[in-house]
Amino acid sequence: MHKLFNKRFSIPMAAALVAAAIVGCTPEKYKQDYNPLIDDPTEKTPEQPETGSSMNELYRPQVHFTPSKNWMNDPNGMVFVDGVYHLFFQYNPQGNSWGNMSWGHATSSDMIHWTEQPVALTKDELGAIFSGSCVIDKDNTAGFGKNAMVALYTSAGDDGKQQQSIAYSTDGGKTFARFGGNPVIKNDDDNLRDPKVFWHAESGKWIMSLAKGWKKGIEFYGSQDLKTWSHLSTFFTPLAGRPDLQWECPDLVQMDYKGGKKWVLIVSVNPGGPILGSGTLYFPGEFDGITFTADERDYPLWLDYGMDNYAGVTWSNTGSRLVMLGWMNNWSYAGNVPCDPWRSAMTLPRELKLVEFDGKPLLTGTVVKEIDGIAKEWKPAGSSWEAFDAYQLRLTVGLDQNTTITLSNEKGEKLVVEVYGTSRLVAVKRNASTGKVNFNGTFSVPSMQGPICVNGDKVTLDLFVDQSSVELFTQEGTLSMTNLVFPSSIYNQIQTSGASVEAQVRELSRIWK
Ligand code: FRU
Repeated sequence: MHKLFNKRFSIPMAAALVAAAIVGCTPEKYKQDYNPLIDDPTEKTPEQPETGSSMNELYRPQVHFTPSKNWMNDPNGMVFVDGVYHLFFQYNPQGNSWGNMSWGHATSSDMIHWTEQPVALTKDELGAIFSGSCVIDKDNTAGFGKNAMVALYTSAGDDGKQQQSIAYSTDGGKTFARFGGNPVIKNDDDNLRDPKVFWHAESGKWIMSLAKGWKKGIEFYGSQDLKTWSHLSTFFTPLAGRPDLQWECPDLVQMDYKGGKKWVLIVSVNPGGPILGSGTLYFPGEFDGITFTADERDYPLWLDYGMDNYAGVTWSNTGSRLVMLGWMNNWSYAGNVPCDPWRSAMTLPRELKLVEFDGKPLLTGTVVKEIDGIAKEWKPAGSSWEAFDAYQLRLTVGLDQNTTITLSNEKGEKLVVEVYGTSRLVAVKRNASTGKVNFNGTFSVPSMQGPICVNGDKVTLDLFVDQSSVELFTQEGTLSMTNLVFPSSIYNQIQTSGASVEAQVRELSRIWK
């Protein structure tokens, strides 16, 4: 049984999904999907079928990336080159549930407007194509050509083996050739995946982080040429009260901090989010080219306190600017979210920074400034506004008492946000009043809470509201809470009680042509 059907889902869901999996994963079906080794980089991978989607169906995000049709999960292979942001992603070219894992592909010049491209990588004889990363090989260390785009991914075999493989593109990501010597890291079990690679100038080598799934922890490997890898070290730190979860999708990044530099290891864990289901955490620490050592802190530290930001990693080749994109969903209910003919969106892209709060590093994330390109002018929100396709709401809330903020639509569907001024917490309540929730029993969450990490007597909240999501940030991204919601129409009214609240709104124009 595939690991995704192991423990990730509830028992009744698992039964339904196993049935679907058995139907969807027969060897015969794989034979049809089988895409022979592509040796010739000029050979095209299969074209994305024309869907004719209006990109305007009920719940279709208007300012977030979604594939026009079919299932998507993790962002993969994110790399910036020649003015183009590439986003590859876990994709099922055959249907709207997890399976036939391939790398879909989309491109953008601003990380906001996206053009879907043909599927980049599909299953081969080593297995399905699981998550991974891309690098630009400026110095031709691998011998595939100067500036080749090299994709590193997990080959997930039918035999359960998760091994690491590479493919390369010399035409800017349009087509990929697989390396004849795959796998580049052999492995016998199903707990080693999601290679994220960067060039470590100080030690003159490529560093790969790999997640150990149910075995927990991260393995680090080093290489001079992206083809031959040697094991460097293993990282593991227990997470208080959360012994039983799998580690996935690591990303080791170096960040500016207090006039110097500091390393941060980002890891997604499941089922172990801030409340339940999937979540992303981080470890500030040091990396010496071999070993990552986390600071002495109480872990876990959450990157996002909502339910729907998972498997996020950063773009490669963006210099010192670090931008992350996450999968805006949660394995607890991802298979059931009521979206058709697509399933899942990415979060808005967020610029990460490391700041000091309470004498310790705090990882922050704010929506990239490129969002201004689709934003209209700010206006006082009043008690209601036009039912825009999407919008940003900015609230300045006093912290001298507790405040209740209710966003609602004309049908009375509503999302309640509480700002607990004295205890300095924000809570989001997602329940039967927010819209559709009955597609999965774990979707309703009475209260998700996160800390307000600001000093002073006011907090600014920025809410990015789309057709089926609300991403909430406190000022400078000191807290983020990302949540799916399924109201029958976008919330366009606000009511508050408690402390004084100033509210401004600006329309965000839809990104689809
Ligand atoms: C995370 C994950 C990865 C894996 C991929 C499979 O969501 O489980 O660990 O590579 O999804 O689709």
